[in-house]
Amino acid sequence: MKTTSLVSPTEILRKYNDTFDQPTFGDQYDKVYDGVYYFIRNEGKQIRPLLLMLACDMLGGDIDKALNPAYAIQMFHNSTLVHDDIIDKSEYRRGQLTVNKKFGRNTAIMAGDMMFIIAYEYLLNHSDNSNLHQILKIFNQTAVKIMEGQQIDLEFENRDHISEDEYLSMIECKTSVLIAASMEIGAIIAEASEQNCHHIYEFGRNIGIAFQIKDDWLDVFGSAELTGKKIGQDIVRNKKTYLFVKALQLANEEQKIKIDHALKQTDDNKKINKVLELYHELNIQGHTKEKMNYFYDKAFHHLALIDIDPYRKESITEITNQLYTRKK
Ligand code: IPE
Ligand code: IPE
Ligand code: MG
Ligand code: MG
Ligand code: MG
Repeated sequence: MKTTSLVSPTEILRKYNDTFDQPTFGDQYDKVYDGVYYFIRNEGKQIRPLLLMLACDMLGGDIDKALNPAYAIQMFHNSTLVHDDIIDKSEYRRGQLTVNKKFGRNTAIMAGDMMFIIAYEYLLNHSDNSNLHQILKIFNQTAVKIMEGQQIDLEFENRDHISEDEYLSMIECKTSVLIAASMEIGAIIAEASEQNCHHIYEFGRNIGIAFQIKDDWLDVFGSAELTGKKIGQDIVRNKKTYLFVKALQLANEEQKIKIDHALKQTDDNKKINKVLELYHELNIQGHTKEKMNYFYDKAFHHLALIDIDPYRKESITEITNQLYTRKK
């Protein structure tokens, strides 16, 4: 394994953003790109490209080689968000109207599709042909899993009872596999050993599960100003979040009846407040934290098994710890 010097997360993101500053797709004036430009002007946390490049750097790879795949992953992530906002009927994302609300559903469908194709364009720009096939394979398998997870998430809206295991396998598909795959692709670009690729994937998979649990938590206990999304919408849409699944699991008969009544509320704010009352009664915040800790412990177990100098793991540790306490 090569032992190139490490690059800080800030430097990595600066390089990434300098490289992909104001990209142009097709004809700038073609209206079909309106939704795409509108969405990518406001790029969010960029956690997946950052983790991809950090994994590559940590394992001795050249981050220049990771830039295009990292951008591809972010583009694909963007495409899933634009479609997710149609599916979830969301009004705000990243502090602005969703593409769906701003341009209408049809344009949002096309913008999402367009970004999916743009993702492949950037994968094809990847300079190393020796691993492109392997990266494409992971990318496709991941994309398929996400669609499966999104479909299950949607079906859960109409089911009253979801077990914790069912919930966990749904979020593994819709969210955690992309974080895991991002890190694995970074490792592949670094030509890491099969064992190290495996452990970085498992690290990402467990961090990714905790990431979605935190996303569920932020929907209720976060601030709209920081998350850029409208608070309480998972409750309004009958989403089976970790908080909801845990509340149903812990509720006594009386509390179950209360949850049932809350769900029948037609006034959104009343519905949110009634469910929130139950979450407080059942200490759902404490249980959520416990679950996140469980997956963080599993993740760090795999990070420890990656066979490199421990100091090389410091940046990834720092960034993933920031994800644990994130407010957006
Ligand atoms: C939101 O992802 C969708 C989930 C998988 C929870 P992020 O929280 O990474 O969103 P952005 O890209 O920073 O806006
Ligand atoms: C999103 O889950 C997962 C994907 C986009 C694949 P959510 O629906 O919970 O994400 P947010 O809260 O809208 O960002
Ligand atoms: Mg969703
Ligand atoms: Mg959503
Ligand atoms: Mg959410």
